[in-house]
Amino acid sequence: MKILSSPSETQAFLRNISRAGRTIGLVPTMGCLHNGHLSLVRRARAENDFVVASIFVNPTQFGPSEDLAAYPRNIGRDTALLEAEGADLLFCPQSSDMYLQGFSTSVAVSDVSERLCGEFRPGHFTGVATVVCKLFNIAGADKAYFGAKDYQQTVVIRRMARDLNIGTEIIICPTVREADGLAMSSRNSYLAPDERKAATVLYRALSAARNAAENGERNAGNLVLLMREIIGAEPLATIEYAEAADADTLGPIGSIGEIAGPVVLALAARIGKTRLIDNLVV
Ligand code: PAF
Repeated sequence: MKILSSPSETQAFLRNISRAGRTIGLVPTMGCLHNGHLSLVRRARAENDFVVASIFVNPTQFGPSEDLAAYPRNIGRDTALLEAEGADLLFCPQSSDMYLQGFSTSVAVSDVSERLCGEFRPGHFTGVATVVCKLFNIAGADKAYFGAKDYQQTVVIRRMARDLNIGTEIIICPTVREADGLAMSSRNSYLAPDERKAATVLYRALSAARNAAENGERNAGNLVLLMREIIGAEPLATIEYAEAADADTLGPIGSIGEIAGPVVLALAARIGKTRLIDNLVV
């Protein structure tokens, strides 16, 4: 596996791959790879001639009081894992090369960025959209792979790609879960053993709401109440939001609250100090 850190060198290298008629699959990550990331690499490997993974802990998507400095990093382990999955290129740029002195352009995706996580992490999705747009421009990939665990991120990226006529096809892959249902996340490594146990409450709450919907509950407010009740019973959990939103637009379900089409049940909660998100589409 080749490793490059210069954006311009990577762009030139990948342009030659494309010119040679080979398809490119891109897997953007912030490293500290787990099975969720590796499932994206496997899918990219199966669908493309050439697979690029990027590792970049993007500072512009972290708020001033968030965990940028503490974010887990393990480039040696990540490199070995990517190599074992058959990735062809690892792109791991320095922040100073991604954001040159005087960097002054950003990609703000209004509307779908504004609700759910957007309310609690101002500027987060602008940071995500900006760096993903840059990665798309650098890689010139045919397809790019993202996990459904970050549901709102996938909606924001799809909207950006559509609005800006980005030719890269966006592929969303299923959330990968631990045996007890906890969605895999690099931030799970922050959890102390009692918090790790408590964190399963998120998937339990989502599953209960999904079961209720499947058994005929059509009132979005009741599904949200059920999730809140279950999470509220876990002393280590504090809800940031629990919502049922239109799965395409992320808009709130109308004032009557009746579910008529695909709905995303979305949660963000702190388990101890660790903020986790999860979702299910029903
Ligand atoms: O999901 C992530 O790991 C990040 O938000 C992404 C898409 C790599 C952008 O930094």
